Amino acid sequence: MRSIHNILVTGGAGFIGSHLIQHLVTKYPNYNVVNFDKLTYAGNLENIKSVERASNYTFIKGDILDAQAVTDCMSKHNIDTVVHLAAESHVDRSIEDPNSFLTTNILGTANLLNAFRTRFENGDATLFYHISTDEVFGSLGTEGLFTETTRYDPRSPYSASKAASDHLVSAYHHTYKLPVILSNCSNNYGPNQFPEKLLPLIINNIVEQKPLPIYGDGLNVRDWLYVQDHIEAMDLLIHEAAIGENYNIGGNAEVTNIDLVKMVCNIMDTSLGRCEGESENLITYVTDRKGHDRRYAIDTTKIKTQLNWQASVSLHEGLKKTVNWYLENSDWLENVKTKEYQNYYKKQYSK
Ligand SMILES: NC(=O)c1ccc[n+]([C@@H]2O[C@H](COP(=O)([O-])OP(=O)(O)OC[C@H]3O[C@@H](n4cnc5c(N)ncnc54)[C@H](O)[C@@H]3O)[C@@H](O)[C@H]2O)c1
Repeated sequence: MRSIHNILVTGGAGFIGSHLIQHLVTKYPNYNVVNFDKLTYAGNLENIKSVERASNYTFIKGDILDAQAVTDCMSKHNIDTVVHLAAESHVDRSIEDPNSFLTTNILGTANLLNAFRTRFENGDATLFYHISTDEVFGSLGTEGLFTETTRYDPRSPYSASKAASDHLVSAYHHTYKLPVILSNCSNNYGPNQFPEKLLPLIINNIVEQKPLPIYGDGLNVRDWLYVQDHIEAMDLLIHEAAIGENYNIGGNAEVTNIDLVKMVCNIMDTSLGRCEGESENLITYVTDRKGHDRRYAIDTTKIKTQLNWQASVSLHEGLKKTVNWYLENSDWLENVKTKEYQNYYKKQYSK
């Protein structure tokens, strides 16, 4: 078990980061947990309300593109461990505006690595953990799985920017011997996810009885992982992964987009007391995403055999938990749907 005192989480007000922050603050009261987040449209302090007053938690509003702010934060809080999640994360937005993805995801990661390197070389830091996506591996046909040695083949500006950041992390390990680990995870879902992403968008639209937009023929396949399972995997990696290693994380839950949406429709017809099939009638096929990857699927053998981790929440169970959370937290959903979101949503789906 790695020794940790002061841990910096970037992007801790976002979807996955907020679950990680709550997990670390409550499970490890002897760690000082610092959350560094710019609070973009995707970041929301309400996501981490449950821990905001905890004595081992500090929030810093900051931009990873501000190298000085990153360096100051690490030295002020004597950071020994960095878990880096802050990113622009929505593929559709990257297709409309690639540059903000290139700057935040690549230069932002470089700023963190540079600040961490100074601390490491002074003997003050021990781990840089970079969170990435399975999308860096490109698109699969009907057969096969991504392994840790699959060649990178990113196909959207988002995945290219994440691939570049992964390469930087590996390069700093080889060049400067920085103690890094890296994980590439499949699609996460669960509470606190911003409603531009498929599942919260569908849940929101079913509630409001709006069209459920499905790209292309709906047969693109993704592997879905309940966010709490991802957090458990990250906890293991933070404490036990071998330095310099990369790990794939997935839910072994491959499904086409259309089947996923139909599962949610079924669950919600029951929860909302609607007639069977009522929500499915809202399904509307829309023009496919540009360059839409056909299939992602993950081989999780490495993390399973080395660290004894595997997903514990089935897709059906996870979807039910997620739907219940959104139905019970309609205030949260209303609050995050800012004007910016409404405009973006209108532009995307009225095409
Ligand atoms: N969501 C998924 O399915 C998934 C899967 C695999 C990997 N990932 C990776 O996990 C990480 C988190 O994803 P998420 O879905 O929680 O994203 P998210 O969009 O919900 O949250 C991103 C967070 O980063 C913050 N941020 C953005 N730009 C910043 C900047 N310049 N400086 C500081 N903070 C900034 C935002 O305010 C937000 O709180 C990302 O690196 C993403 O690539 C996500």
